[in-house]
Amino acid sequence: MPDLIRGLGASPANPGAAPPRLPFSRVTQEVLAFFRTLLPGRTITDPDLLKSSNVDWLKTVEGNSEVLLRPKTTEEVSQILRHCSERNLAVCPQGGNTGLVGGSVPVFDEIILSTSLMNQVITFDNISGILTCQAGCVLENLSNYLEERDFIMPLDLGAKGSCHIGGNVSTNAGGLRLLRYGSLRGTVLGLEVVLADGRILKCLATLRKDNTGYDLKQLFIGSEGTLGVITAVSILCPRKPKAVNVAFLGCSSFQQLLETFQYCRGMLGEILSAFEFLDASCMSLLEKHLKLTNPITESPFYIVIETAGSNATHDEEKLHQFLEEVMTSSLVTDGTVATEATKIKALWSLRERVTEALTHEGYTYKYDISLPVEKIYDLVQDMRGHLGDMAKNVVGYGHVGDGNLHLNITSPSKDPALLAAIEPYVYEWTSEWKGSISAEHGLGLKKRNYIYYSKPSEAVALMGSIKAMLDPKGILNPYKTLPDNIH
Ligand code: FAD
Ligand code: MLT
Ligand code: ZN
Repeated sequence: MPDLIRGLGASPANPGAAPPRLPFSRVTQEVLAFFRTLLPGRTITDPDLLKSSNVDWLKTVEGNSEVLLRPKTTEEVSQILRHCSERNLAVCPQGGNTGLVGGSVPVFDEIILSTSLMNQVITFDNISGILTCQAGCVLENLSNYLEERDFIMPLDLGAKGSCHIGGNVSTNAGGLRLLRYGSLRGTVLGLEVVLADGRILKCLATLRKDNTGYDLKQLFIGSEGTLGVITAVSILCPRKPKAVNVAFLGCSSFQQLLETFQYCRGMLGEILSAFEFLDASCMSLLEKHLKLTNPITESPFYIVIETAGSNATHDEEKLHQFLEEVMTSSLVTDGTVATEATKIKALWSLRERVTEALTHEGYTYKYDISLPVEKIYDLVQDMRGHLGDMAKNVVGYGHVGDGNLHLNITSPSKDPALLAAIEPYVYEWTSEWKGSISAEHGLGLKKRNYIYYSKPSEAVALMGSIKAMLDPKGILNPYKTLPDNIH
C-alpha cells in the first residue's frame, strides 16, 4: 500500500471526506460592499440563487458559500483575486459545475467565482483554425459557432450543453474525441490566467510552435482551479469532417470487443474517430430510466464506433469492409450503422447518457480509471465478485480507445459500508496494474488523498512547492487536488 494515510486531515476511514476548515477570513459587509461596487448586479448573495452553485452535478458534495461573483472581464477577475488575496479569503472557481469529483463547489464558505458571463468568442482564424475565447463559453455553443464555419472543437463530451471551455481545460477533460484529436495538452495553444494575487499572466499564444522557455500553460491545464483562474483560451480546431458514420455493435465477450478494436484500428486507420463501449447493465439503465431503445439484439457489450473523414464513398467502403470482417468472424453479433445526423445523435445518446441514467438509481460511486486496455473490464468483474449483494449495480463503460474505464457502483442512498468495501480496494487494484486512479475527471475533493496511488511522493511534494509559489496563501480552491498533508 502506498504511503497514503499518513498525516491526513480527513478521517483515515474516509479520505474523500472534507478536512477541517482552514483559517481563512470570513466575508464581511466591507468585502461585500467592494464586490457590489466592482460587480453591480453580479454579486449574488440570495441563498435561493446560490443553492445550485453550492451543490455539485452528482448532488454528492454541498458547500455553504454566501457569495457568488459573476465577472465579465479578466480585469474584474484580477481585482476580485487581489482583494481576496489581501484579505485571506478563499475562492472556488466554477465553470458549468459539471465536474464529477467535487472540485467545482465550495467545501465550506469559499467565495464562488463563476465564469458564466465570460462567454465571448474573441477571435477565430479560419485559415489556421485557431479559436480564442473567454473561459466561460459553453462547449456546445463553441461547437455550433465552429460548425457554421466548417470547423469543429477538438473535444466533445456528454456535458457539452453545460460545461465551459475554462472548466474543460482546468480538468484537462478527455471525452469522446481524444482518440482522434488528442488531449487538450496538445490542442490548447495558449491561456490567459489570473494568479492568486491578481496578476494577469497573458500566455494567450496562437502559435503551433513556441519553444521559448518553459511551457507555463501546461501547469494550469488539469490543475482544477488550484493554481490560477483561467480567463481565456486559444485552441486549435480541426476542419469539420465531410463524412461522419456511426456504428453501434454488439459483442458477446470483452475479449471479442478487444479483438474488434484491433481490427478497427487496422482497417479504419486514419478515419477512426471514436471507439467507446458500454456493458449490458448500462443498457438496462438507459432503457429503464431514459426510455431509450436498444437498436440491436441484446448483448453483454456494446460498442460505438465513429468514423470522420473527407470522402463519404471511401469512408463507407472502409467501414463496410470492416463490418463484414467482424461479422463473418463472429466477433460482432449484431450492429447498425448511421450516416444521417438524427440517427447518429440517437446512437451517441446510448453512450453519452449513461452518466445521467445512473443518477436515477440513487447514489453513484464513480471511478475513472486508466489501465492497460486488456485489463479494463477485469476490474468491473472483480468488483462485482468483491461486493456481492452490497451494491445495487456495478457497471462499466468508457473510452476503450484511450484505455479509460468508467466503473460506476450504485446504491439506493449513500452507504459508508459500501464505500469502505470499494475504497481503497479499487485504488490498490489500479495501482497494482500501474494504472491511473483518475484518467480524465481530476482529483477534486473526493480523490485528493488517493493521489499517492498514481504519483510518487517526490512528485506530490513538488506539486506542493508549485502551489506554494503560485498561491502562497492557499486561497485558490482549497481542499482540492492536493492531499491534506500538503498545504
Ligand atoms: P466545473 O465543473 O465548473 O469545474 C471543474 C473544475 O475546474 C473545478 O475544480 C473548478 O474549480 C475548476 N474550474 C472551472 N473553471 C475554471 C476556470 N476558468 N479557471 C480555473 N479553474 C476552473 N469529463 C471528461 O473528461 N470526459 C467526459 O467524457 C466527460 N463527460 C461528462 C459527462 C457528463 C454528463 C458530466 C456531468 C460530466 C462529464 N465530465 C467528463 C466531467 C467534467 O470534468 C467535464 O464535464 C468538464 O470538463 C467540467 O467543466 P465545467 O465547466 O463544468 O467545470
Ligand atoms: C463519460 O465518459 O461518459 C464521462 O466521463 C462521464 C462519466 O464518467 O460518467
Ligand atoms: Zn469519460
